[in-house]
Amino acid sequence: MPVIITIISLIFTFLSKLSKPKKSRIRPTEFDHNLRVENYPSPFPNGWFNLTSSASVKKGKVIQVEAFGQKFAVFRGENGIVKVFDVFCPHLNANLADGFVKGNNLVCPFHGWEFKQDGQCGHIPYSKDEPPKAAKVKTWEVLEVWGLILVWYHAEDKAPSWNPENYLPELANYNSHGNTSDILNIHLQDFAENGADYGHFNFVHGLMTVPFSENHIKVDHTVNINFGEGDDEKHLAWFTDVAQLCWKKSGKPIKDAGGDALVRYFGPGFLIFRLNSKLAKDITVVKTFTPIGPLKLRMDDYIFSPKGTNPFARRYIVSEAAAQFHDDILIWERKGFAKKPLLVKEDGPIIQMRNWYSQFYSDPDNGFKSEEEEKLVKA
Ligand code: FES
Ligand SMILES: [Fe+2]
Repeated sequence: MPVIITIISLIFTFLSKLSKPKKSRIRPTEFDHNLRVENYPSPFPNGWFNLTSSASVKKGKVIQVEAFGQKFAVFRGENGIVKVFDVFCPHLNANLADGFVKGNNLVCPFHGWEFKQDGQCGHIPYSKDEPPKAAKVKTWEVLEVWGLILVWYHAEDKAPSWNPENYLPELANYNSHGNTSDILNIHLQDFAENGADYGHFNFVHGLMTVPFSENHIKVDHTVNINFGEGDDEKHLAWFTDVAQLCWKKSGKPIKDAGGDALVRYFGPGFLIFRLNSKLAKDITVVKTFTPIGPLKLRMDDYIFSPKGTNPFARRYIVSEAAAQFHDDILIWERKGFAKKPLLVKEDGPIIQMRNWYSQFYSDPDNGFKSEEEEKLVKA
């Protein structure tokens, strides 16, 4: 059986490489951007976001990361603990990410002020006095989980309302296969709405990437989404997609061909994809979105699989999923935000998704679709 899976995966991978993208990606111009950005909600909803991978911040090193329209100095002390500071030094605004780590402290490159892990300046090399209390750099709430450095962003500086450490303990026993990264000109709410937008699945994702299959085989998606409730689960949503391969002519399903995806949304900052098929089980993609500015974000995919997974099958499944996502990106990077969408009942629970998502904005009307408006569009 493993040999057959390897052969099938290799054939599919080889054929997929032959396929050309149906459309090429057109990067929006400044004119496009100004037109599109108008109706979108705030680019920075509240939640946990991936600043960077743990591996990119070695012991005793500092790096700069951009997110939420700001810059951060991310460093790891000799004690192994990661800290995230605002990048500009409170003294004369030098860039702290250009400084260096000394023990567990971060030293500014301009006048050598030394900042402790709590952000307080502990030493000014040319001053006999204690550093003033106000010599403090802003620190951010940070967690290291699944090999990522997550930071809590809240527009009103409120404390975290949930803890990502409670999820995905199994990843500690999975193999990790690195990550891909891309800058996208989109708003992160569009990722969420994608799962509730039932009408687009068969239209956008109705074909495999394998060339020559399009005349004979189609992919039939059966999708469903549920939203968490109560304090413990309201930041969660679950989406399932059962993708069945069918003969195009007769519409009949092809036995044992297809796969299913369970997608869990953890607030606005990341989704966990769990992909299952006859070729491999529980291929896991942690997909993170880090907003940088209006209609600009970084998307990172971190790939994991259970021990013993066929590597060729894993690669094929991950590349097929990425190709389907690519088709979404072509649409998202060109679209605006319909504040009052004109929906039919088969469109899926887009309004419920907006209601769920509205909890992540400090302004509750931001991106929110009221019940009254919903009645109007359905009338
Ligand atoms: S600007 Fe940082 S020590 Fe002067
Ligand atoms: Fe999609």
